[in-house]
Amino acid sequence: MVKPMEFIWMDGKLVPWGEANVHVMTHSLHYGMGVFEGIRSYRCADGRFAIFRLNSHLNRLFESAAIAEIIKIPYTYSELEKAVIETAQANKLGEGYIRPLVVLGEGNMGPLSKDNPVRVFIIPWKWGRYLGRDALDRGISVSISKWRRANSVLPFQAKITGHYVNAAVARRDAEKAGFEEAIIKDESGYIIEGSAENIFIVKDGTLMTPDSRLPILRGITRDSIICLAKDSGMRVEETYISEADLSNADEAFFTGTAAEVTPIKNIGEIFVGTACPGPITEKLQTLYFQTVRGEFPDKHHWLTYID
Ligand SMILES: Cc1ncc(COP(=O)(O)O)c(C=O)c1O
Repeated sequence: MVKPMEFIWMDGKLVPWGEANVHVMTHSLHYGMGVFEGIRSYRCADGRFAIFRLNSHLNRLFESAAIAEIIKIPYTYSELEKAVIETAQANKLGEGYIRPLVVLGEGNMGPLSKDNPVRVFIIPWKWGRYLGRDALDRGISVSISKWRRANSVLPFQAKITGHYVNAAVARRDAEKAGFEEAIIKDESGYIIEGSAENIFIVKDGTLMTPDSRLPILRGITRDSIICLAKDSGMRVEETYISEADLSNADEAFFTGTAAEVTPIKNIGEIFVGTACPGPITEKLQTLYFQTVRGEFPDKHHWLTYID
């Protein structure tokens, strides 16, 4: 359960956690039209805390709203950047998670309600290991969902709240069948991603991940891993991955702000490779944590220090 913190940023100011409420006529509660982000902050090597890739997350929030079209965020980029930092600082968040959420408020009803106020919240909380306490060390077991990702809907590169109903049923089915996460395929049967993570496989030393033209969320962790892999001389392919490629992979792992870099141990009854985590997964996982913790010079300007 999420433990309340002290403040939530609501429509321009910090309010006590318990007062950040919405009316039952809030449009997004009925029709699922909201956009959101998930951001993490980490304790860095020098003892300070830094938000990882705040800039990329806020850009994606504005892009998601632009794709959704009817959500016009009533703040500028720099106002939201300041608000995220202020929220983390006011709550003494330290290492934690930050959720900007933009919804359509009350007013008109019906799916297309043009004049409803746009409400913006920035919610912090402490979130440990998203896929289980030791998931990063031991890897997780996953199944392939029967629910497919449709190509002809609002683009999945937008992080829209309504997209996540499919993620919820896929994950519920996986858990019911004794697995920890689901992998989702598209209508043609290509591997797309997890319910809230991007997916990578390793085959003969090459790192592969579903192409960004497929209906995936263009994950910021995915992008970080691609950069780190290329920087360390690895061959990276954004491509089309079939279920057979997945079963024959030497290694597989999920990436996400919440899931970080989580090795995949088995897919259904099939064990991936010979060791979990495999050597490349382990190397990328280490590089990722060294990067988010500021152990290298921040050449990509990914860290925003908050103290
Ligand atoms: C569907 C989906 N795919 C992938 C990801 C990973 O994205 P990111 O690395 O930007 O957190 C997420 C997490 O937000 C997600 O919800």
